[in-house]
Amino acid sequence: MKRILTGIKPTGYAHIGNYFGAIKPAIDLSSNADFDCFYFIADYHALTSLKTKEEFAEYSKNIACAWLACGLDPNKVVFYRQSDIPEDFELNWILCNVTPKGLMNRAHAYKAVVEKNKEEGVDIDSNVNMGLYNYPILMSADILLFNTNLVPVGLDQKQHIEIARDIASYFNNKYKKVFVLPEEYIQKEVQTLVGLDGRKMSKSYGNTIKLFGTEKELQKSINRIVTDSLLPGEPKPLDCTLNKIYKLFASKQQQVEFDKKLANGLGWGDAKKELFEVANSYLAPMREKFDYYMTHYEEVEKILADGAVKARIIAKKVLQEVRKAIGVEI
Ligand code: TRP
Repeated sequence: MKRILTGIKPTGYAHIGNYFGAIKPAIDLSSNADFDCFYFIADYHALTSLKTKEEFAEYSKNIACAWLACGLDPNKVVFYRQSDIPEDFELNWILCNVTPKGLMNRAHAYKAVVEKNKEEGVDIDSNVNMGLYNYPILMSADILLFNTNLVPVGLDQKQHIEIARDIASYFNNKYKKVFVLPEEYIQKEVQTLVGLDGRKMSKSYGNTIKLFGTEKELQKSINRIVTDSLLPGEPKPLDCTLNKIYKLFASKQQQVEFDKKLANGLGWGDAKKELFEVANSYLAPMREKFDYYMTHYEEVEKILADGAVKARIIAKKVLQEVRKAIGVEI
């Protein structure tokens, strides 16, 4: 039995990149009896980039309801909120003390901000708070606290898992072998999702499609998909952004037929209509569940509270071993 753990940082509304790239594959894994799954809302990770308490509350609620609406079964998965696990933050502090500062200097997310500051000729520490700088240590605590074997993540998170492994080894070598060394679990079939403009779908590019927007919002996003200037009747390239997004929602047969229509010169306007139909019928049943959870949020809170109780049973055990290893407890 392998322990699998992953988290999503609620820094915006859940979008279809989160769904196809993280939520759906994680839920699929949870029906495998060889895996013991821990999925959580990394709300304290979002704190480094959120501006208001309203955003914090709203995005956390959105992602919690999204996981459930997408089919997460709380009887199969330990589902919780990071901020409900105080042991995580105690471990975070302890890990700070075995982590060389140089390791954090090399973390991609921090380095990217520093590079941007250099380019713009402003102070290199501009827009860097300690939450951003220490982010990989808290993420290591999230993972190591539960004896995690595998962490399903996208390629962009690979370095963070390597850092977690490094930090675990520093601790194990300095004190005692307490931590399991985690590995990233990168699913080959989970591709990077393209956004409306053809770049990687990412909130920071503003090119996402909201997972649970209204039909109107879905329609609007689809209308924004960037196409070329080929006219109706002219064959369309099959590797275009619109077709890539269409394929996410369509059955094999629908994909084949749509390819044919594009090759035969389907106009972009009609293509967008067809995409809307296929995406909307895929999303509508989940949207209904999402609306239910949003309006019965006390049920979601109960699920998260139960999840935190289950998670803390393990967290307390591991943290106690850590406390013993460093001499806080006898
Ligand atoms: N850093 C991850 C992201 O940006 C979120 C995250 C926080 C996470 N803690 C984690 C992912 C632990 C996996 C395991 O998406």
